[in-house]
Amino acid sequence: MSQPARLAASILNADFARLGEEVARLEPHLDFLHLDVMDGHFVPNLSFGIPVIASLRRACSLYFDCHLMVTNPTSLFAKVKEAGGDMVTIHIEVWPDPTQAAAQARALGLDFGLVINPPTPFGAVAPFLSLCDRLLVMSVDPGFGGQAFLPEVLEKVAAARKFIDSAGLSTDIEIDGGITPETARLARRAGADSFVVGSALVRAPDPVRAAREIRAAVKDE
Ligand code: DX5
Ligand code: ZN
Repeated sequence: MSQPARLAASILNADFARLGEEVARLEPHLDFLHLDVMDGHFVPNLSFGIPVIASLRRACSLYFDCHLMVTNPTSLFAKVKEAGGDMVTIHIEVWPDPTQAAAQARALGLDFGLVINPPTPFGAVAPFLSLCDRLLVMSVDPGFGGQAFLPEVLEKVAAARKFIDSAGLSTDIEIDGGITPETARLARRAGADSFVVGSALVRAPDPVRAAREIRAAVKDE
């Protein structure tokens, strides 16, 4: 069973000179904030790191979901915790057996999740879902905001929904990349619980209205 739909903003395409203001404006309309940390190595882009998470922590009381697009994510766990992060998600593509990583995150008091890229089959994460608070299904190749949603990942969302429900797990299924009201609706139907929205929120002429439109699109029929 899907959980009530949750909405998160990705600030990757926000105006970094006005980050505090942008987050404050959106905060009442969000369930959590999705923070995209990149190292220029696992993905061909750099974004922001620990100091930005720490600054945002002082400006905002939302739950921080930290998506670590880095080659060596476990080396950041303690720093993410110290900066005020609540959850770390790491890519199965860099950490094929995440058992230790999950234990390390929990020992620090962090929630833990796995991320799966569009070309990676669901079977890569299935054996580890019982260790995860969240499964993040990427619906674009990671690295950049503003890309088009890849509809072929909907099958993976549906496979994850089926697996999680039949195993009696409560792992949250999050979808990230190219989310608009239309693609959010498709992902909700496939079984997603949490929706990460970057450009469609922060580049919208009226971000608050855009947040309402996405919420309306994922409202259960
Ligand atoms: C991509 C990031 C996403 C991205 C979402 O690597 O993980 O969180 O910023 O942005 P949009 O919604 O613009 O695809
Ligand atoms: Zn992300």
